[in-house]
Amino acid sequence: MIALLRRCGAIALAALCWQAVAVRASDVPYVPTPMNVVDAMLVLGGVGPGDYLIDLGSGDGRISIRAATRFGTPGMGVDIDDRLVRLAQAEAQKQGVAGKVAFAARNLFDTDLSRATVITAYLLHSVNLRLRPMLFEQLKPGTRVVSHDFDFADWPPDQKITIDVPDKVYGPPRSDIMLWVIPANFAGVWQWSLPGSPVYEARLEQKFQMLVGAAMAQGQPLSLAAAQVKGDTVSFTLNGAAGVQRYSGRIDGNVISGEVVPRSGERTLPWRAERIKTGTINIGGM
Ligand SMILES: C[S@@+](CC[C@H](N)C(=O)[O-])C[C@H]1O[C@@H](n2cnc3c(N)ncnc32)[C@H](O)[C@@H]1O
Repeated sequence: MIALLRRCGAIALAALCWQAVAVRASDVPYVPTPMNVVDAMLVLGGVGPGDYLIDLGSGDGRISIRAATRFGTPGMGVDIDDRLVRLAQAEAQKQGVAGKVAFAARNLFDTDLSRATVITAYLLHSVNLRLRPMLFEQLKPGTRVVSHDFDFADWPPDQKITIDVPDKVYGPPRSDIMLWVIPANFAGVWQWSLPGSPVYEARLEQKFQMLVGAAMAQGQPLSLAAAQVKGDTVSFTLNGAAGVQRYSGRIDGNVISGEVVPRSGERTLPWRAERIKTGTINIGGM
């Protein structure tokens, strides 16, 4: 009898432990994104047939399925809950896009994101913060990340809209939709020259997509302002005694190619800068 009780106790304990593990594995409860928000997320993300969309925590699959049916976008969704994954697969089949979108029962933190050109998420702040380093590690510059209601703390969105959601199941009847574009790494020391001008040297520091720095030409300091990074493109101005120069270009490895307006009203010239020392992007802590 005692042996039986012991055995039952062990089984009950095992069941309890299993439940605790199962509960802990889901980081976010299932709450579907209302369809008008889904549509606004896809429009803000600029999705198209050339994209590959991964929805992290895909629930009933509505974001991936809508991307495929309305925009012709292939992709996948992952969810920890295999019941929801089966539901999403059945819905994709029903809507005729099972060949375009796949769903997998998987922890989003064990998912290879490198193929994505668009990531969508309706998670929680704490989960987004854990996800943030993974996005910077795995995603190509230019990849768009669209989140419903939850941001990435001190990583500011590139764009944010708020829309009315009369049928929202909790909270105020509106949703924030935010877009981030994964920035290329512009940090480091760059050099270039312009026809008839000395060598320019700029030292750039980057936190997320925010770029600050200072530049010198012939020992004279130039202030660097209005720096903007979007994916693999950059623009900034250099302000000195001779006026304001406006630069814009695209990075490829350790080279930026683009153009410069050397002074207001002057002819645009080609611009090519080389990085002589690479820096790292500051992506904050967790
Ligand atoms: C708020 S719902 C969003 C569902 C869907 N993306 C939408 O917007 O309609 C969050 C989803 O994340 C799933 N989830 C929670 N933790 C997860 C994890 N670690 N890995 C994968 N999915 C997870 C939940 O099962 C749930 O379906």
